Amino acid sequence: MQEKLEEVKKQAQAELGGISDEVSLQNLKAKFLGRKGVITEILKGMKDVSPEDRPKMGQLINEVKTGLEKQFDEKSVQLKEEKKKKSIAEEKLDVTLPGRSLPVGTKHPVSQVMEEVISIFEKMGFEVAEGPEIETDYYNFEALNIPKNHPARDMQDTFYISDDVVLRTHTSPVQIRVMEKEEPPIKIIAPGRVYRCDSDVSHTPMFHQVEGLLVDKNITFGDLKGVLTEFLGLIFGEGIGVRFRPSFFPFTEPSAEVDIECVICDGKGCRVCKESGWLEILGCGMVDPEVFKSVNYDPEIYSGFAFGMGIERITMLKFGINDIRLFFENDIRFLKQFI
Ligand code: PHE
Repeated sequence: MQEKLEEVKKQAQAELGGISDEVSLQNLKAKFLGRKGVITEILKGMKDVSPEDRPKMGQLINEVKTGLEKQFDEKSVQLKEEKKKKSIAEEKLDVTLPGRSLPVGTKHPVSQVMEEVISIFEKMGFEVAEGPEIETDYYNFEALNIPKNHPARDMQDTFYISDDVVLRTHTSPVQIRVMEKEEPPIKIIAPGRVYRCDSDVSHTPMFHQVEGLLVDKNITFGDLKGVLTEFLGLIFGEGIGVRFRPSFFPFTEPSAEVDIECVICDGKGCRVCKESGWLEILGCGMVDPEVFKSVNYDPEIYSGFAFGMGIERITMLKFGINDIRLFFENDIRFLKQFI
């Protein structure tokens, strides 16, 4: 038995020498010191040892066992130490490497122009007002002098949510919401999304408008012309030709459509302006007395003007973009050209 113990000890030490990772170490430990290990096996042989030799034998086995345990523990500590050293060496940080830069984003061209339009009107003293995109029939049509079955409703292809609820087809309902809440003088712009059931190179189901409304005593068509001419000069370049053409909107009287000199051909005539030299850019007019009545303003005391423009259209003309759908395809190669 003694010889066997000696042999086991040597074998264990030899095998321990070849171990280089924690898992194999644990397996080896189980093989010699585990519940079903070699030492346990030897202990079973104690029953054949004579009673007088038993204490000595027992002591010897214990010595070998604790000796081995110690060696296994030392090996474990040594392995951990090595692992740590190795990982420190491998994880060395090279602080001289250049940093990784993130790609810089650009503002969407429609947002850029929207911000520019808002900032021009803010400088003229207009305040920004907002209203809901899901609007009632009353605010979108009725209060703007567009009764049910009025042919003017056909001018705008409306998304109906129910009989009385629509996606707003223009920003004009914000006029009503502001006038219901406040007394003149009113001087607001209302930027936002609007919706029409329409889609081709110059129409998308969602687009952006900026509405303007100014109401006070003694406001004339001259004021309207002054504000819009000034605005168009600032957004398209000083000295741009502007003309007012008689038109019709149910909520303004008289109404006009405003054209600018074609920015593509400088008014000479081209495909974009259909050889006319002019581009239609916005709708406007003097607030119709019927609209004042629906918000309880006295049309004998107050007068005002309103206007509305499409931001995508202005953006297309400013940047020479020929298909409105490009704005919403989210192709970064297109979007990042406009800085
Ligand atoms: N709401 C009109 C449209 O969307 C534009 C407009 C606004 C016209 C205000 C006149 C006055 O076409």
